[in-house]
Amino acid sequence: MLLLTYGLGLIGVFLEHTLAQSVPSFSKNVSDCPGYSLHTLQESNTGLTAQLSLAGPACNAFGTDYQNLTIQVTYETDTRLRVRIADSENNQYTIPESVISRPAAPAISFTNSSDLIFNFEPSPFAFWITRRSGPNSAPLFDTRLSALPETPIPPVITGDESTALDGFSLVFEDQYLQLTSSLPHDTNIYGLGEVIASSGFRRNVAVSGGSIQTLWARDAGDPVDANFYGNHPVYLEHRFNETINEAQSHGVFLFSSSGGDIMLLTPPNAKQSLVQYRMIGGILDFYFFSGPSPVAVIEQHGALVGFPSWIPSWAFGFHQCRWGYASLNETMEQVQAMRAANIPLEVMWNDIDLYHAFRDFTSDPVSYPGEEMRAFIRELAANNQHYIPILDAGVPHATNTSDVYDPYTRGHELDVFVKNPDSTEYIGQEWPGYTVFPDWFANATQQWWTEALKNWSDGGVEFSGIWLDENEASSLCQGSCGTGADLNDTSIPSVLPGTPGNPVPDYPECYNSSISGPSGNITINGTLTCTNSSALVGLSARGLGAGAQTGIDINAPPYAIHNGNGDLSDHTLATNATHAGGIVDLDVHNMWGLMEGKATHLALQDLQPGKRPVIIARSTFPSSGKWAGHWLGDNFSTWQSLYYSIQGILQFQIFNIPFVGADTCGFHGNTDEELCNRWMQLSAFVPFFRNHNQRGAISQEPYRWDSVANASRTAISIRYSLLPYWVTLFANASMRGTPPIRALWYEFPTEPELFAIDQQFLVGADILVTPVLSPNISSVEGIFPGRGQVTWRDFYTHAVVKASNGTATLSAPLGHINVHIRGGAALLMHAKPAYTTTESRAGPFSLLVSLESHSNAFGTAYLDDGLSNPPAESRNVIFSATANELKISSCGNFIVGQKLEALTILGVTNKPSKVSAGGKNLQSSNWGYLPDVQELVISGVSVDLNGAETTIAW
Ligand SMILES: *[C@@H]1O[C@H](CO)[C@@H](O)[C@H](O)[C@H]1NC(C)=O
Ligand SMILES: *[C@@H]1O[C@H](CO)[C@@H](O)[C@H](O)[C@H]1NC(C)=O
Ligand SMILES: *[C@@H]1O[C@H](CO)[C@@H](O)[C@H](O)[C@H]1NC(C)=O
Ligand SMILES: *[C@@H]1O[C@H](CO)[C@@H](O)[C@H](O)[C@H]1NC(C)=O
Ligand SMILES: *[C@@H]1O[C@H](CO)[C@@H](O)[C@H](O)[C@H]1NC(C)=O
Repeated sequence: MLLLTYGLGLIGVFLEHTLAQSVPSFSKNVSDCPGYSLHTLQESNTGLTAQLSLAGPACNAFGTDYQNLTIQVTYETDTRLRVRIADSENNQYTIPESVISRPAAPAISFTNSSDLIFNFEPSPFAFWITRRSGPNSAPLFDTRLSALPETPIPPVITGDESTALDGFSLVFEDQYLQLTSSLPHDTNIYGLGEVIASSGFRRNVAVSGGSIQTLWARDAGDPVDANFYGNHPVYLEHRFNETINEAQSHGVFLFSSSGGDIMLLTPPNAKQSLVQYRMIGGILDFYFFSGPSPVAVIEQHGALVGFPSWIPSWAFGFHQCRWGYASLNETMEQVQAMRAANIPLEVMWNDIDLYHAFRDFTSDPVSYPGEEMRAFIRELAANNQHYIPILDAGVPHATNTSDVYDPYTRGHELDVFVKNPDSTEYIGQEWPGYTVFPDWFANATQQWWTEALKNWSDGGVEFSGIWLDENEASSLCQGSCGTGADLNDTSIPSVLPGTPGNPVPDYPECYNSSISGPSGNITINGTLTCTNSSALVGLSARGLGAGAQTGIDINAPPYAIHNGNGDLSDHTLATNATHAGGIVDLDVHNMWGLMEGKATHLALQDLQPGKRPVIIARSTFPSSGKWAGHWLGDNFSTWQSLYYSIQGILQFQIFNIPFVGADTCGFHGNTDEELCNRWMQLSAFVPFFRNHNQRGAISQEPYRWDSVANASRTAISIRYSLLPYWVTLFANASMRGTPPIRALWYEFPTEPELFAIDQQFLVGADILVTPVLSPNISSVEGIFPGRGQVTWRDFYTHAVVKASNGTATLSAPLGHINVHIRGGAALLMHAKPAYTTTESRAGPFSLLVSLESHSNAFGTAYLDDGLSNPPAESRNVIFSATANELKISSCGNFIVGQKLEALTILGVTNKPSKVSAGGKNLQSSNWGYLPDVQELVISGVSVDLNGAETTIAW
């Protein structure tokens, strides 16, 4: 830490200035903002506190400068450092503990052991963060003017002057806060969201372009490079020093619900890149996570905001949904058709077709009668299947006495709805017509919400989980716009897709409906030639440095670009909509979806005590993962959406919302056979696996085409056999924040050729997925991390991949997804994957061991009942192989009913002369050896996973 000197003279000058200036006028220019000087420093054993005073005349750039700020620096753990800068008057909005609770203040001192060190200079005040373990390397974060490039810097978006940069002083005004940090030139940044970035999973910090992450929840169907549903002001940065082959990651999280822009760019001719925060409210409450591995950064973020909720094992099954199942009969037909086609269906869903007049908490008395719903859902339950309905954000404003709608009446009585500034109810418009919106800050909202959910379930819709839609919150008119929803008028200002006048015309890139017809059929490797190569996701994007830049061209969607809405109040609650206690929506807009998810989770805990709630939410915020999972929203039936789904899934792992997936086969537009085939296979390796479709588009359930049915059966069978692996990965997420899905570089952080890869991903550490992301091809190029030091074996054939220069061209006919197991892995599996996860769990276990260097493997499996919340008992089984033997041991109190009955050990160089289990030699009929793939197959054993250590030797 540096010593400081006080800037008292400047404070005096400034005081006079503000007193003279009674009416602020906004200069819209930060170039002459004076910054702050630090004084009144008090150090403690957990950090320091000091005052900051404006260091010159107020600039009043986009608001009124605060004269006095308080900075608190807290070494919260050895890996987490908090730097909180707030107005000393405490006027600015801060997120209350009741919404997001954070760990208590540290009880012991980390100031001398923390790997992160806060350094500062007092005047003008600036700080920088370094590592204790690398004091001489570039700071992780550095706000010193001397570290930043010259200004002015031309606009990040050509032609948009508001994206130019001019002045890097700390600005802290009531409506504008700005802080800028230097970053190493072209560093690797991941996260900041929610976004679909044309640059790929690695954010664009390049000279040409850069990125702007706008923080404002918005109902927009999967736009590229624009803000939409969720807001996550956290990034993961990775630095690799080639000279010393050292790779370290760290994280930076701004804890703010305010709207804002976060800009990433490399100014022309600059030696460094930079990140600039431009917030329109709140305070600057930064957390720094030291990693140094990327997985550790994600865990450290989770430890702060909350680890993901426990997921019941059934939620890993396959989910089927669509908008447009006109009746319960049509819904039931899907369940039957899936069964008839022998394609596993675990969870059936309904969209808003379920509702009476589009009203939340209802089912239509004619098309979805309550008692028939009850019978249907109970029959599902009897078959180990589940049901999840949609729940929209807007609640009908039904005031007509001849049209009583209890959820509104009761909510009005309990005073739970968002208000106008004059205390009348704020009325927006959604599918049911005029609507009000729950105010999660009001005292009685939780009680009302729980009651409404209970009444819905009691009325026949006996849901297992809840799907939260439109919760940005979406409103289709601007401002408080009308009154008195009634059954006769559910008109919204649009025609539903699939209704006469609004057909769904779009097909995937390269699809030619004049050849292939309206059923979405296309012939793989047939007569179609795709001339629009810009639509394809090419492998030329791979490799260090090239990824981001070429990625932009390859992935630029010619048709799918949606810009932000402009006005903050457009298409959502107005910024002046008022919450209990006088909070305006401007400050808390970004948390509506989080707060709804939390209230729904707490309601389900009440209604289904002891069970793990399954909630899928559209709008999310830091800590949403504690309460809900997420789907990637209203995507498109396109190859590009298929590709973009991978970066979305990777992003939400950083946000600690790991239970995530895309609308498989695509939502907007018509899918086709080939795309749906590839997508069903890809999503089988993604946490949340749901096929969902737009109203009016051609049907896309997996049984609709023979090839898709086959591909789905194959992939789902693998998924269900790997359930113990999924359950283990998610237990680690819930206990430690460990991300289940990983970018390749997380496991191989010193291999820069992986830093931009987002066409492949890892499930855990051990399963590498290489999907096909383009039409009309039957091979795919894959990169195989480890630079030849890691053995990768084909999941199906068990053959070792021959990857020259780290890449291999893999055969990928339609219906085949390439999956590889890492050498050194030991995966516990269900030996008999069945129609449902429950039946799969009831069968015996098998074990797949992939030896590295012909001797070593290690794996663990977490086992519990898959339902209890929190888990009652669990058991951790450990598999450890060294030269010619495998030891199996376990600890915990959960009694595993099923035995381990089969083992496959890959990488056994020579045929063993004998094989033993628990010291007893096995009969030769109980094992076999395949020399081509060096595979030892053992059957006829029955290993008790609860028992003492068992050794299998060969
Ligand atoms: C700022 O703090 C100084 C003391 O350091 C105090 O005299 C002054 O009134 C404060 N200004 C405001 C606007 O609170
Ligand atoms: C890499 O490490 C070397 C040796 O410590 C150091 O001299 C060099 O500055 C580092 N490079 C970067 C880009 O940090
Ligand atoms: C469902 O189908 C059955 C038999 O076809 C029919 O009797 C019933 O009315 C239908 N129900 C609805 C809600 O359409
Ligand atoms: C709906 O319209 C019908 C016929 O026009 C009318 O009788 C009824 O009162 C209306 N219902 C409501 C709730 O306004
Ligand atoms: C909530 O209830 C408490 C205690 O009854 C009361 O003091 C407070 O004013 C209420 N808050 C709101 C926002 O209604």
